[in-house]
This record gives sequence, C-alpha cells and structure tokens, in this order.
Amino acid sequence: MKVIENASEIITIPNDGKHPKRGEGMLDLGIIRNANIWIENGKIVKITREMPQGVDEKIDAKGKVVMPSFVDPHTHPVFAGYRDFELPIKQAGKGYQEILRSGGGIYYTVEKTRYATSEELFNESSKRIEYMIRHGTLAAEAKSGYGIDVENEIKLLEVIKRLSSEYPILLVPTFLLHIIPKGREEGDYVVDIIDKLDLIRKYAQNVDVFCDIDAFSPQWTEIFLKKAQEKGFKLKIHADELGFIGCSSLIKKFNFISMDHMLKTPDEVIMDMRNRDTVAVLLPGTPFSLFKDEFANARKFIDNNVPVAIGTDLNPNCYTENMQEIIDLSIYKMKMKIEEAIVASTYNAAFATGVQDRFGSLGEGREANIIILDIPSYTHLGYHFGVNLVSDIIYKGELI
Ligand code: NIG
Ligand code: FE
Repeated sequence: MKVIENASEIITIPNDGKHPKRGEGMLDLGIIRNANIWIENGKIVKITREMPQGVDEKIDAKGKVVMPSFVDPHTHPVFAGYRDFELPIKQAGKGYQEILRSGGGIYYTVEKTRYATSEELFNESSKRIEYMIRHGTLAAEAKSGYGIDVENEIKLLEVIKRLSSEYPILLVPTFLLHIIPKGREEGDYVVDIIDKLDLIRKYAQNVDVFCDIDAFSPQWTEIFLKKAQEKGFKLKIHADELGFIGCSSLIKKFNFISMDHMLKTPDEVIMDMRNRDTVAVLLPGTPFSLFKDEFANARKFIDNNVPVAIGTDLNPNCYTENMQEIIDLSIYKMKMKIEEAIVASTYNAAFATGVQDRFGSLGEGREANIIILDIPSYTHLGYHFGVNLVSDIIYKGELI
C-alpha cells in the first residue's frame, strides 16, 4: 500500500460519472482537509484521516494541496517549424489572418512538418510532452493537422500514439481538418478526406474541424461531420475564433463532445448550448499570444449553465504546455473564479477529452492520477502565478 499523507487539502471533485459540471456545480471542489490517500494497484483505496496497515511507500503532502492531475482538452503537440519569428510581427500589429493569407502561420508549420520524419517529430514533440507532465498534465487531447494529406496526417497520429505509450500521459488522438491546401478547392479537398475516413478511424477516435473565416465553411464542415459521425468518430469543432460565420450554430445538428475557442459566439448559440453535455472549451492562451484584448465570454457560458473547460491550445502560435498559466489567464482575463478554473482544467476537461472515467476526480476505486502542489491552499492557484507549483506527480498510482 502507498499513502499520500497529511495533505493540507485534498480536492476530490465529486464525480457523478455522467455529466460535466455547469453553473454553480463548477464551484464544488469536494475538499477534504488533513487527510491521507491510500493507493494500491494504481487505484485509490480510501481517502481518510486514518493510516492503513502495511505501508510500503509514503508520499509526504504536509502543508500541500493534492488534486486530480490536469487534463488538457485541446492541444496540437506534434509539429515541426517554430514560429518565434512571428512574435515581433504580431507585436507590430499584424493579425493572425493577415499572416495566414500571406502564406505564413499554419501554412509555414505545414511545410516544415510534412518534410520532417516520424523520428524527428517524435523527438521534437517529446520535449513538449515532458513539459506537459512536469506542469501536471497527465491526459490530453492531441490533434493532427499539420500534415494536410492523409499520409502525413497519419504520420502525426502515429507519433501521438507512440508518445502516449512511451510517456506517463494519456493522449487521445483527434484527426483535425485544419486548413485548405494552397491551390485546392475546399469541397474537392473535403471529399478526398471523407473517402479516407475508414483508414483515419484506425488512428483517431475524434475528428475536429477548424471552421472559421479563412478556414473551413460551416457548409463543408457539416458535410464532413455527418460522414465522420457515421463512421463512429466523436465530434469536436474549432468555432468562432476569428469571427462568427455560423460554425457554432452546428450545435443544433450534432452532439459535439466539445466546441472550442468560442470567442465570437453569439448569445443565441450560448442559449442553445444550455443544459447539453457539449463542453465549451475556452482557450485564453490564443488571444493572449495574438496580443488581443478580447477573450471568450466565460461568465456568460457559465452563468447560462453551459459546461466550460479550459485548455492550452498548445501549437506553434500559442506555445505553452502549462495548464497553470491557463488557469491564471482564465482568472485574470476571463473573470473565472478559482474553483471554476480548477473544475474546468480537470473534471470538465476530462469530459471534453472523453477520459472522465479515469481522470478529473479523486475517489475510492478511481485511478490514481494525482498531482501535489506546494501551496497551503488551493486559493494560491492564480494568486501565486507564473511559477510551476507542482511538486509531485502520480500516474496510475506510480510516483514519477
Ligand atoms: O487552435 N485556429 C486554428 N488552429 C490552431 C492554430 C494553429 C496554428 O496557428 O498553427 C488554433 O489556434
Ligand atoms: Fe486549436
């Protein structure tokens, strides 16, 4: 038996196993003070003040906070081609779309990624995966999207699978319809991908579409999603990041597990999202990395009973693996309460990723995917910002 002992606070986040949390439910952290967690065979046996018989390993959590590991519900971790050179260009006032239209942005990364070998991509991405783990993320949704043709997309999905098997982290692979290849017509390209969905299904369990101005139209997004749904994929969508062209209105037609970005989403769509289990995944790192002052309206989603999660959007434009940074931005820029940000980065993020059975909550019988933070109370999250607060990481019951 292994014991995490003397935790100042254990954030359990009670799990009903069925629905993401919404409204005031997002304030419910289920805190247990001055207690121990017993762990055996990778699972939590008990959370209690008592100590068990026959302890093999003690993990000291005196004066610290113990909580479920973070789940990052939106990442693009496999790519080659850094875009550090774009930062001063963005700072000088050039917008994301302008950069994209002139052949930079995603197109730049696609060029570099297509020419990289699997081995190179694995080595590059390994560094990012290590950063994720060190900052407390032990499960993440991971998208392809920089390969564009099916062969190169599968190359990325295979790298995601290998990363997940070689590192103490669960990566859930998503095929992302990211950008229309230069010189191709939208419908022609989408039909090509639809023809290969059976093959793609062997490598990914979700599909996602970048539906926006300068990316895919809601019309072709709908055609693609319909086919993907028939093939058994779970559905996600990048919607309303740059503008509203009707992408998030597809909520009326599909049961998405998540709708992401949602920066320009109109009120009527937020009303349509009420009381559904589709999670709005808000990504404050993205406008931050684009020098924007406008962030998604988290308060409106939460106050209208839409389940909200937060994620990094880790990609070569928005380059962070750190969910604690995202918690900080959610509090300071999106007016989320600290409790809401914690639920949004664990329990609700697990639902948006489809891993709620294994992540996002601590309780008897649940898998022990746990982080220990060197802070006296959870109220130091957000308050103590800009540093890594994680002191210990436990994946499937093993201290790593
Ligand atoms: O979620 N918006 C589309 N895709 C990514 C960005 C990818 C990139 O800029 O390389 C996103 O922000
Ligand atoms: Fe994204």
